[in-house]
Amino acid sequence: MPATQHTPVENVAGVAIPKLGLGTWELRGELCSSIVASAIEAGYRLIDTAQGYENEAQVAEGIARSGIAREALFITTKVRPDRLSADKLRQSVEASLEKLGTSYIDLLLLHWPNPDIPLEETIPVLNEVQRAGLARAIGLSNFTSKLLARAWELTEVPFAAEQIEYHPYLAQGTMLAALRQRQMAIMAYCPIALGKVASDPDILDIARSHGRTPVQVTLRWLTQQDGLVAIPRTSKPERLAENFGVFDFALGEEEMARMSALTRPDARIIDEPQWVPEWD
Ligand SMILES: NC(=O)c1ccc[n+]([C@@H]2O[C@H](COP(=O)([O-])OP(=O)(O)OC[C@H]3O[C@@H](n4cnc5c(N)ncnc54)[C@H](OP(=O)(O)O)[C@@H]3O)[C@@H](O)[C@H]2O)c1
Repeated sequence: MPATQHTPVENVAGVAIPKLGLGTWELRGELCSSIVASAIEAGYRLIDTAQGYENEAQVAEGIARSGIAREALFITTKVRPDRLSADKLRQSVEASLEKLGTSYIDLLLLHWPNPDIPLEETIPVLNEVQRAGLARAIGLSNFTSKLLARAWELTEVPFAAEQIEYHPYLAQGTMLAALRQRQMAIMAYCPIALGKVASDPDILDIARSHGRTPVQVTLRWLTQQDGLVAIPRTSKPERLAENFGVFDFALGEEEMARMSALTRPDARIIDEPQWVPEWD
């Protein structure tokens, strides 16, 4: 099975999402453009950006350089939490489209909930944006199970996915169950715990037995789970193929369980108490 072949993740919105993509947080300028172009060349089809990363234009430059057809790509961007009001949301998406040099986003996410802007105001505008064709699908990010339930009560357009922090150290049982129950794709961010998994002795042990790297084993553990999408970031072109090479081997049940048992308390990396004071 060649490394580029994998089944995209289906979901309730009917917009299939590639199982593995490139994260672009903190990638800026020429480095961002060149990594995006190299990633597409290496087979990546999902590129994850955000208004807050301030690199949408550089992502577009990388896409243009790759020469790939727009419809062969899956672009995710996220609306900043300070732009969730009715008067700012649509405008901010139009600005993203301009920077990204495209007429539609494949998956448009609300980056963080904003306790100062009621979802009653945001969700109808998000629905309108999707209906107007600015986004093929919509979704959420960093919403707790309670906020997810509230957002679903308010939406008329099904949410395709939610982005959550998920890696071997962070148990996300409540969110995984809530997202699966709604047939949403689960996009794992910080999937390799900012690179920490590369030196983990347990993961190294599993990796050696497969002749793989610990990062590959971790990305395999993630993508082998139901409904999972992973979006590892790298700034190093030589790591692109390594991180994408996870579709030509499989972990056994015991290995999957061993990886899942690596969870520990206080493993959350990304915490923004002003947006989410209490996680699940
Ligand atoms: N929705 C949200 O709120 C949210 C929050 C955080 C992230 N995200 C998204 O998720 C993406 C991924 O998360 P992340 O960037 O925070 O962390 P990550 O992908 O878990 O880790 C990235 C780090 O791992 C290193 N790395 C990559 N490949 C490696 C390899 N093969 N061996 C060893 N080290 C390796 C990278 O260093 P090098 O550059 O040196 O390779 C980088 O420092 C982001 O880029 C962003 O698109 C979303």
